Amino acid sequence: MNGCVLHVVGTRPNFVKAAPVVAALGAAGCDQVLVHTGQHYDARMSDIFFRQLGLPRPDTDLGVGSGSHARQTADLLVALEGELAARAPALVTVYGDVNSTLAAALVAAKLGVPVAHVEAGLRSFDMAMPEEVNRRLVDQLAELLFATSPEAVGHLAREGVAAERIHLVGNPMIDTLLTHLEQFDAAGARAAHRLPERYGVVTLHRPANVDDPQSAAAAARVLADAARHLDLVVPLHPRGRAALSAAGLADTPGVHLLDPLGYVEFMSLVRGAAAVITDSGGVQEETTVLGVPCLTLRTTTERPVTVTHGTNRLVRHGELVPALRKLLDGGGAAPPEGPPLWDGRAGGRIARVITGWLERHG
Ligand code: UD1
Ligand code: UDP
Repeated sequence: MNGCVLHVVGTRPNFVKAAPVVAALGAAGCDQVLVHTGQHYDARMSDIFFRQLGLPRPDTDLGVGSGSHARQTADLLVALEGELAARAPALVTVYGDVNSTLAAALVAAKLGVPVAHVEAGLRSFDMAMPEEVNRRLVDQLAELLFATSPEAVGHLAREGVAAERIHLVGNPMIDTLLTHLEQFDAAGARAAHRLPERYGVVTLHRPANVDDPQSAAAAARVLADAARHLDLVVPLHPRGRAALSAAGLADTPGVHLLDPLGYVEFMSLVRGAAAVITDSGGVQEETTVLGVPCLTLRTTTERPVTVTHGTNRLVRHGELVPALRKLLDGGGAAPPEGPPLWDGRAGGRIARVITGWLERHG
């Protein structure tokens, strides 16, 4: 096997998805380089995940940080070009749909380095979401496409991606969840945050929900209504903090605002929750596997398998409180089996495809 596999990660969800792939390739004896773009940089958005998930310390942190889409993507492109040119990897592996993912795939493609995309083929069909733009472009550039669900395979096939490049491998985010499941101490987390027996967990960070003051105020109002029925613990992503605080969320009875939590603390709270209210991609998947009811405050999802095979339901603002009351009254249907191949072995499947590919092309 010649040449290294260079992983590019930059944000909280990237770390959760990359950890099992890096571990499995390490176990297979693969030469690896881990590049952190620095898109997320607060200790609670970055360092804590490396510690808790056993990710190796990044070989490089490019320190790109925040900015408008154009500024951030431009800075990512320039920084990644230097890094990839210097390291000359055999393959660049990218995760999910964030700006770091797009920038890494674009730089690699222009340098002639093949790209592997973990979590390929998800589609919300809403081009107003920056993630949808990123996903579609990355999938056009990738040589190896790792899909988490049969729908994703179907989307890629319809977009003309050759079948031999698509691999249905399951979900590495769920590998991470199952690896750490025993550490998720729901009772301890509830006590630490002085929550009642029944509580809900809320995360909100999508631009459509938190960026402009009217949207944030509408979200804060509907959460205040929900908190009349269930205490809500809200570890706030930095993106929503200012707007949701300005909308009065911090002073709402029954709402417990927190800083972003480490993975184990967060998943401990989710594991014990009566319900989760979110707009996160990953949280829709994690609740499905934990069997915790999830109400997603969005009109679309790129993860419909969490609705058909899990506990997820999309709700508009006006539907949230009735849906919450129904499930608190025991009206939630029993969750089905769970999506196929979400069994904790996706990292190993991805590593086998990559090592086989390296033997043929390295
Ligand atoms: C990014 C992804 C989004 C993903 C989310 C996961 C893009 C376009 N969006 O959104 O798909 O769901 O990560 O969490 O890539 N900030 C901090 N500290 C940090 C990081 C960010 O304070 O460590 C603040 C900054 O004010 C920054 C804002 O959060 O401007 C947004 O950060 P950014 O990385 O641009 O996008 P996210 O909203 O985090
Ligand atoms: N997460 C965490 N602490 C938090 C919120 C989230 O550890 O306070 C984890 C959780 O596993 C989630 C992942 O970070 O699935 C990604 O989170 P986020 O919602 O930011 O990203 P998305 O999946 O929407 O891109």
